[in-house]
Amino acid sequence: MKAISVFPREPNSVHLAELPMPKVTDVPNGRGVLIKIIRVGVDGTDKEINAGEYGGAPPGYDFLTIGHESFGKVVEIGPNVRDLAVGDYVVLTVRRPGGSIYDQIGTYDMTTDETYYERGINLRHGYLTEYVVDDPEYIVKVPPGLKQLGVLLEPISIAEKGIYQAYEIQRRLKVWRPQRAAVLGAGPLGLIATFLLRLRGFDVTTLARTRPPTFNAELAEAVSARYVSTQDMPMKDASARYGPWDLIFEATGNSQATFEALEILARNGILIVTGISAAGRQVSISGDMINLGLVLGNKVMFGTVNANREYFEMGVQDVALAEQLWPGWLARFLTHPVKGLENYAEMMRLLTEEKKAIKVYVEVAEE
Ligand code: BGC
Ligand code: ZN
Repeated sequence: MKAISVFPREPNSVHLAELPMPKVTDVPNGRGVLIKIIRVGVDGTDKEINAGEYGGAPPGYDFLTIGHESFGKVVEIGPNVRDLAVGDYVVLTVRRPGGSIYDQIGTYDMTTDETYYERGINLRHGYLTEYVVDDPEYIVKVPPGLKQLGVLLEPISIAEKGIYQAYEIQRRLKVWRPQRAAVLGAGPLGLIATFLLRLRGFDVTTLARTRPPTFNAELAEAVSARYVSTQDMPMKDASARYGPWDLIFEATGNSQATFEALEILARNGILIVTGISAAGRQVSISGDMINLGLVLGNKVMFGTVNANREYFEMGVQDVALAEQLWPGWLARFLTHPVKGLENYAEMMRLLTEEKKAIKVYVEVAEE
């Protein structure tokens, strides 16, 4: 079976590897679910893994099959699988549990272990292949009516987790009635955060460098968010005009922007940090001002990574809601299809060069 793979830490090593066909019996206790992969989305993580920046091969392999944004169909189940049936459309979560107490209660996205296991990213093969097998714990059903959007659920789960956790943290306030939010970045994750915050009734300002008109700006405006180019209006000015922001969702990975956001965050506000920065850059920030504001304003900043099945399930609900409010909006994310696993070079080219792409994805197989 073909699998788009890399030799981890070796730049530009993307190639087509051969993997053995998985079997339901690969999962113990009759709980195996065999899934035929239909579509897989790719993102900056796949690009950075192919650039040799991070990623690890599973034990016993010198390559890592990439792809962590899955969508497929159940083709066979083990005798002890009850909540899934042949023919169900599904997505798989990414992380697999390690040994910490958080892993043991199903919240593997909160692991305190140093080593983490992520399908398609670190120490476990991903989904850019023909079939995968896994335990039902890591498989989330997608209603047939939303099947076209299933491939977007993994990035959606990341934003769901961030926003859900922000509300959890804000329970410290006894009453929290946030009204205005800012999203930093208008890439796929920024646009996803934009629609999720619009669904929750926020007045949303989405900030990115690029000047409109762009497709990304158009998408933000289509869900009645305000798009601001920071080249036209720096974040501070935008906050004076459209803030104060009770919630800021950072989706750029630019640490300078993160700390500037902390400085302008509203009193009692919360800053969600999701962007992965290329560790190493020194930035200059107004440390004292930020510190003072943090203390006098009871502000919170927190980081969030990955997601467990709960957040994928929330994603399914919100995708259904979004389809009611803005029919067809999410499907517009699916800008750049690549047909077949053999076209991995084209997939990487689009991922690295196509500035107009919102989501590059591989059509692995027909249903
Ligand atoms: C993935 C997450 C993952 C993170 C860090 C992101 O691209 O969507 O699932 O936890 O990278 O590896
Ligand atoms: Zn991703």
